[in-house]
Amino acid sequence: MGRYIAPSLLAADFANLRQAIEMVNQSDADLLHLDIMDGQYVPNLSFGIPIVKTAKKISTKPLDVHLMIVQPERYFSQFRDAGANHLTIHIEACNHLHRAIEEIHELGMKAGVALNPHTPVSFLEEIIPFVDQVLIMSVNPGFGGQKFIETSYDKIRKMRSLIEQEHSSSLIEVDGGVDLQNAGKLFEAGVNILVAGTTIFHDPDPKAIIRAMKKA
Ligand code: DX5
Ligand code: ZN
Repeated sequence: MGRYIAPSLLAADFANLRQAIEMVNQSDADLLHLDIMDGQYVPNLSFGIPIVKTAKKISTKPLDVHLMIVQPERYFSQFRDAGANHLTIHIEACNHLHRAIEEIHELGMKAGVALNPHTPVSFLEEIIPFVDQVLIMSVNPGFGGQKFIETSYDKIRKMRSLIEQEHSSSLIEVDGGVDLQNAGKLFEAGVNILVAGTTIFHDPDPKAIIRAMKKA
């Protein structure tokens, strides 16, 4: 399976979003990760649909939209219309996960399920055959630039076993505190997609970092 990189726009210079997205276009990155926060599911607000629409106009990479919002199903069609290709929702924010995943698929998007650090892998046992990607949060969601939680490696290994056991084709994505030091170990533990904000956008040579992360 491939090694994919999804730069998170949250850490970009918002005064120069076009430049940030064009950098991602020219890089070896595979997806553009967009973090939507509602100030309720997480204690922070980020950006909403107008930025997704704008990113879609500039980005040549698929948009990987991470919804950190309560009752995310209220907005599925709006995110699809804005240009989302992958839509990830939090298991903790959704009462009817199976129905929500079906709706995302019916709208023509890939469906992802995110797990907070405290949420056990076993909570995905019944739903894993239906999902395209699982997003393991390796920090508590809501902010960029936090410290990677070391127990995430074990969780990723458990997730990989569950995926194999259930014969699922789901990818594993990891998000939060990802850097050049832990990238290789994360791929080895079974990750397919690395999300990284600070590591990429705060570096003077982001394209080189993306290249290096892929080969880590
Ligand atoms: C955090 C977001 C992340 C964030 C990662 O809630 O889901 O995507 O941008 O930022 P870094 O890579 O700086 O930890
Ligand atoms: Zn994210």
